[in-house]
Amino acid sequence: MNAPLPLIPYPLQVDLLPGHFRWSAQIGIAVDSNVTEILSFLDALPVDFRPILGDSFEDSQLNIYIDSALAVEAYQLKILPEQQIEIIAADSHGVFYALQTLLQLILAAYEPGKLELSLPCVHITDQPRFAWRGFMLDEARHFQGMQTVKDLLDWMAYFKLNIFHWHLTEDQGWRIEINKYPRLIEVGASRSASQVSGFLGKQLNAIPHSGFYTQAEIQEIVSYAAERHIQIVPEIEMPGHSQAALAAYPELGCTGGPYQVSPRWGIHADIMCPGKPGTSTFLQNVLTEILELFPGKFIHTGGDEAPKTRWKSCPDCKQLARENGVARINELQTILTNRISHFLSTHGRTLIGWNEMLADGLDPNAVVQYWVGREKILLKHIRSGRKAILSNFGAYYLDHGYAHSSLDKVYQYEPVFKQLEPEFHHNILGIETPLWTEFVPNRERLDWQIFPRLLAVAETAWLDNRKKDLTSFHQRLPSLLKQLDVKNVGYALFSDANPPSYKRLFGTISLMQAGKGQR
Ligand code: ACM
Ligand code: ZN
Repeated sequence: MNAPLPLIPYPLQVDLLPGHFRWSAQIGIAVDSNVTEILSFLDALPVDFRPILGDSFEDSQLNIYIDSALAVEAYQLKILPEQQIEIIAADSHGVFYALQTLLQLILAAYEPGKLELSLPCVHITDQPRFAWRGFMLDEARHFQGMQTVKDLLDWMAYFKLNIFHWHLTEDQGWRIEINKYPRLIEVGASRSASQVSGFLGKQLNAIPHSGFYTQAEIQEIVSYAAERHIQIVPEIEMPGHSQAALAAYPELGCTGGPYQVSPRWGIHADIMCPGKPGTSTFLQNVLTEILELFPGKFIHTGGDEAPKTRWKSCPDCKQLARENGVARINELQTILTNRISHFLSTHGRTLIGWNEMLADGLDPNAVVQYWVGREKILLKHIRSGRKAILSNFGAYYLDHGYAHSSLDKVYQYEPVFKQLEPEFHHNILGIETPLWTEFVPNRERLDWQIFPRLLAVAETAWLDNRKKDLTSFHQRLPSLLKQLDVKNVGYALFSDANPPSYKRLFGTISLMQAGKGQR
């Protein structure tokens, strides 16, 4: 068998042709200059291999054809021995992904000092397995900043990921400017210290941590993502993981506070009070600004890890429960989620929440993001038509150490439940890989946690699982990692990413420790 082409994710169908295409700065390209995808593709090439966009269409060696019979995001890429490259796609997404494939081939062939690069001639026919190919970044535990986010969006596009889920609010920090509520930043964006020495450790480091995005910066990042065919899904957590908001506006909590922006990780008892009328007003006002900033269809409202301790002894929560005839105070979460879901629906948007929100009576339009536990309830909801995104905690949490989630384990993991009958598979929108950052204080650590596992998830998200092949993935990986080297991005070396079995034995225990890459 031929060696696979140096591509990740691998295309669905690759038919090699005899001969080579000679790529150089001298080749003719005369694509309509409105095709912004071509302009950014040319920008991404090494300068000595960047052809000038001309206007002689007869001599153009790279041509794009639109064929609406193809599926959304699908493309064909033909690199032909007669020194022609053809891209056929139904839409600009398909054109973009064809160009990412071509870019990977060119960069793999690149060597400084050469005058021309030899590309294999090939017919590629490609389309994604999943429409939802996501990566989540938690910037609330540790703020990473604009440059890191832009770099990550670049890599996401390169590996054909299309959803950036941005976790912006938490117990430990509120990271997005909201004009109507300035204290969210004045108070909520800073904490005095951070918990070190693991999830079970009591030790704090006494190093203040702060950071937030202005609305202008958010708009800049949203546009940057859109140019890369990436939709941003902002997450505003409610009712739990919201202590930074309570510190800024204590009237949102059951007890009225005072609260602090938390220096500790884990699950906090102080959460938003659904019984206070001000809470709904606050959330709707915040979301109104969020909707202005983020044009995408989906808004994430958290919903995970919300203990009902305070609700049980809160007169306002009890009153709300009586008014709605609910027997168990826990059900107030469904009432709150449905209110917000309906609010979002009236604005043409769809709510996403973590799987703890699942309950009878939940708005059927709300999309569930699955991470852990209660698989039976999840399957019941999926079978009854609810849409789901899969982010299995055991396989796709990038904050886990490699001893727990080795590169090969992540690659080989099949996200769709075996028990789920094929007729319900269309309710799985796709997969997403989160990076929680309790123990990711800097860029070096962030890169090491993400790479190379992001490439394994990207291949699972894109390539039909019957075509996935670990040996081939291993063969292709070095060529793609070379691009990370060029950009000075760190990653776990193969031997660290696939530790020996004696280290993997301790993988689960290591989840509770800090400093070794565990959540
Ligand atoms: C989660 O990891 N709490 C969604
Ligand atoms: Zn309350």
